[in-house]
Amino acid sequence: MTTIKNVSAFLLAVGVAAGMSACAPAGSTAPEAEGDDAATTCNVGISMPTRSLERWINDGEGLKEKLEAADCTVDLQYADNKTDQQISQIQNQVAGGAKILVVAAIDGQTLGPALEDAASQDVKVIAYDRLINGTEAVDYYATFDNYKVGQLQGQFIEEKLGLADGKGPFNLEPFAGSPDDNNAAFFFAGAWDVLLPYVESGQLVVPSGKSPADNDGWKSIGILGWGSDDAQAEMDNRLQSFYTGGDKVDVVLSPNDSLALGIEASLDSAGYKPGTDWPLITGQDADVANVKAILGDQQSMTVWKDTRELGSQVESMITAIVAGDEVEVNDTETYDNGSKVVPSYLLDPVVVTKDDVEPKLVESGFVKAADIGL
Ligand code: BGC
Repeated sequence: MTTIKNVSAFLLAVGVAAGMSACAPAGSTAPEAEGDDAATTCNVGISMPTRSLERWINDGEGLKEKLEAADCTVDLQYADNKTDQQISQIQNQVAGGAKILVVAAIDGQTLGPALEDAASQDVKVIAYDRLINGTEAVDYYATFDNYKVGQLQGQFIEEKLGLADGKGPFNLEPFAGSPDDNNAAFFFAGAWDVLLPYVESGQLVVPSGKSPADNDGWKSIGILGWGSDDAQAEMDNRLQSFYTGGDKVDVVLSPNDSLALGIEASLDSAGYKPGTDWPLITGQDADVANVKAILGDQQSMTVWKDTRELGSQVESMITAIVAGDEVEVNDTETYDNGSKVVPSYLLDPVVVTKDDVEPKLVESGFVKAADIGL
């Protein structure tokens, strides 16, 4: 299991690395052996979890486009959220000549043997967005700062409710992501480090009782597979079982947009109305449906991870691997996968509220105005 470090220790480590970078690229790894021929070596297999979520479609297609423009051969596969399918797709990519694998794991624990087999054939492996656990056969990890994603959600709730000023009590319903996704632990820890003290002080009350006593308890409220329908069913259940006497939910901690959509559907069918008793709801990804929900006052924020930036970072990693250059990383401490600390490049996530939709999402071209009714 990955250790979740205190964020200030992590920031210190990054700061130290950044400060040293003028003399020696701290955190960079040793150069790879020279490739014979960049054009033939840049044969990349991309393995994405599912087409059912907008973000993975954008991630996969965006990265493929970038790599093909850089003259790489690319095979992009989606595994329908099925681990066995992902394993056989990876095996086929290696058999088909892939020299670099970019993998967004469905289940972070199960890919070891397939990747070890790939490593034995000199294939380099980049874990994409989600860490792959329990194996040495992961060379690099490119992601957004997952702890910070949760922290931004927690701080948003803290600020909007005035918790630091002693306001409350408010009824909170916390949710967590898929128990097989390493990121979900980080999202929850980032948020819970902010919110748990207010639960303990009684400013936040969790009527359903689904309130982990510490960060490690997050799996008990995790939604396997990140499905909107499952989040909706869970919220229906909490509303029907614990909010019978006229009590209202004031705030929902949702780790991402797919869960937020299900929770919003549940609130809608329970009769909550935007602008009157609709609770604060967090999210992550800036999916189109959720950006619309933000504009319609059904979602309070999303944590935007510009997947185009992640694609560019991975492209730089691949270019460096192919050229035999050092691969740039900015964190060599946080992501221990149980077998090694995987050298990582962490990007910065950004909070988006209703006011930010136009200047941040539309002007950057991340979403089209027409797609969100602007
Ligand atoms: C990603 C999130 C995404 C979730 C569900 C996580 O690993 O980091 O961006 O919302 O998976 O696909």
